[in-house]
Amino acid sequence: MSSGQYALVVAGMLALFLSPAMAADADRGAELAKRWCASCHVVDSGQKQASADVPSFAAIANKPDFSAEKLAFFLLDPHPKMPNFPLSRSEAGDIAAFIATFRK
Ligand code: HEC
Repeated sequence: MSSGQYALVVAGMLALFLSPAMAADADRGAELAKRWCASCHVVDSGQKQASADVPSFAAIANKPDFSAEKLAFFLLDPHPKMPNFPLSRSEAGDIAAFIATFRK
């Protein structure tokens, strides 16, 4: 690979890594949430069952201090009651964007 091509590849990877929260994809977040979160949280209105005592995503989204950015950071560093998720930055952003869609 020439150094010019190499620079292009690096620039491409950087763009991916740095892509801002605005580029987050709520549809992808919905898929991830169903896979990783639905065993404990109610992740969408069609879902009937999850653990008691665990806030639904709708409840989380409608807290007065909710922000998708804060949530994405929270997800990168899950609290002890939640298992550790292998979420990348962009996946955390996607899930946060999905949860934000519940905000009224
Ligand atoms: C093993 C069960 C479990 C799984 C799986 C789980 N959670 Fe949780 N989550 C909890 C519990 C329990 C709480 C409440 C913790 C508390 O009150 O301290 C919680 C709290 C939260 C909160 C904080 C709500 C608040 O108090 O503001 C967020 C946000 C959250 N979860 C998001 C997620 C997301 C996103 C996923 C999937 C990537 C996920 N959780 C997967 C059990 C789980």
